[in-house]
Amino acid sequence: MISIAIPLHLLAAVIWVGGMFFAYLILRPVVGSSLKPEQSLPLWTAIFERFFKWVWLSLITLLVTGGWMIPALGGMGGINGVGIHVHIMLLLGIFMMLIFMHVFFNPYKKLKNSVLYQDWITAGESLAKIRKLVLLNLIIGLVVIVIASSGRYW
Ligand code: HEM
Repeated sequence: MISIAIPLHLLAAVIWVGGMFFAYLILRPVVGSSLKPEQSLPLWTAIFERFFKWVWLSLITLLVTGGWMIPALGGMGGINGVGIHVHIMLLLGIFMMLIFMHVFFNPYKKLKNSVLYQDWITAGESLAKIRKLVLLNLIIGLVVIVIASSGRYW
């Protein structure tokens, strides 16, 4: 059972955190230096439209596979329960999910609407908010991967 849950869990983490890494460190500087706002803002909207579908899928997969593994590994509490690394993962993971949902329902929604009405000022402000929150989630995601993958050897 764990042999199915772990690879699904890791694939979801790789897709989500790897996607943020690529968007922030590779795509963002290239798009920023080569396109005007009226070109880059619709482009980012289209990029997020596709990427966020994968993030929703990853988020659900992480929760389902993570929640599935905890009872199999002895539950959250007691002497035989999962290690502290799983508690940290769960806490930071939920934090990442709340940040993503905030991005999805607030600045991203605003970005989409302002691009539709060609309001480049508001769109630019929304993109700036998304950029900060994606950086935050990227950092948390990398930290979670380090903690989660090393925790069982602590
Ligand atoms: C929020 C709900 C989550 C739950 C309930 C959860 C639960 C778990 C559990 C029970 C394990 C197995 C731990 C072990 O055997 O020592 C695990 C492993 C792991 N999780 Fe999570 N997790 C969650 C979110 C995340 C997130 C958001 C990430 C990455 C961004 C992540 C990355 C990992 C990694 C890298 C492993 C290590 C796999 C290994 O070394 O075999 N998890 N998780």
